[in-house]
Amino acid sequence: MSVREEFDEWAASGKDRGMEDRHWHTAKHVLARMPVEDGDAVLDLGTGSGYVLRALRERGIGRGYGLDGAPEMANNARGYTDDGAVGFLVGDFDELPFADDALDHVFSMEAFYYASDPVHTLEEVRRVLRPGGTFYCAVNYFAESETTHAWQENISVDMTLWSREAYRAAFREAGLYVAEQDAIPDRETEIPDASEFPTDGYETREAMIDRYRTWGTLLTVGVAP
Ligand SMILES: C[S@@+](CC[C@H](N)C(=O)[O-])C[C@H]1O[C@@H](n2cnc3c(N)ncnc32)[C@H](O)[C@@H]1O
Repeated sequence: MSVREEFDEWAASGKDRGMEDRHWHTAKHVLARMPVEDGDAVLDLGTGSGYVLRALRERGIGRGYGLDGAPEMANNARGYTDDGAVGFLVGDFDELPFADDALDHVFSMEAFYYASDPVHTLEEVRRVLRPGGTFYCAVNYFAESETTHAWQENISVDMTLWSREAYRAAFREAGLYVAEQDAIPDRETEIPDASEFPTDGYETREAMIDRYRTWGTLLTVGVAP
């Protein structure tokens, strides 16, 4: 299945809002670290329901662009957003439809590892960022978070499984400085009592703690030279 087919289905079945609810637990902490200023132009890669741009508009950004490969995701996001300064585009991470140096910041939550050529996507991010612009790249699927590795079995789109070190190396290879890397725990998802396991796809309570509390979301921050 293509990105379009896979994620159009997710959008049609309401998974876009479900992801928003779950990802907000850590995305809000990532957004709080972003050095956005009034009037900034920000791109959200793999925007899903578009919640990140609505939150950033409340912080004063001037223009938000949500790019997604699934037209139904973009349609839904438009329907949830009553703001002329936020636009949703259908496109692919391989080729970002922006001029060189056009953007102040790029954000991505739980989407980057679907890129078919992730280093090229990083080069594209670097190209569209103005000097000093930042890329806040947040993923829950990464090598150190071992309980997430099985996710690939449930989705037809190829996922890139990088370690923390591989993320830093790839950012540098694409010409971005690495300003920060951190694992942001999800302290809100409820973890049931040990007697209730297996549940929610986790064999043991320890495995669920590892996924949410120990690892959570890996944030890598790149800065364009
Ligand atoms: C797991 S969802 C995350 C959505 C949102 N960022 C969130 O936090 O809820 C991944 C999104 O990335 C989009 N996506 C995946 N691969 C893509 C690609 N190569 N180009 C553009 N969008 C892509 C999907 O359509 C989907 O909406």
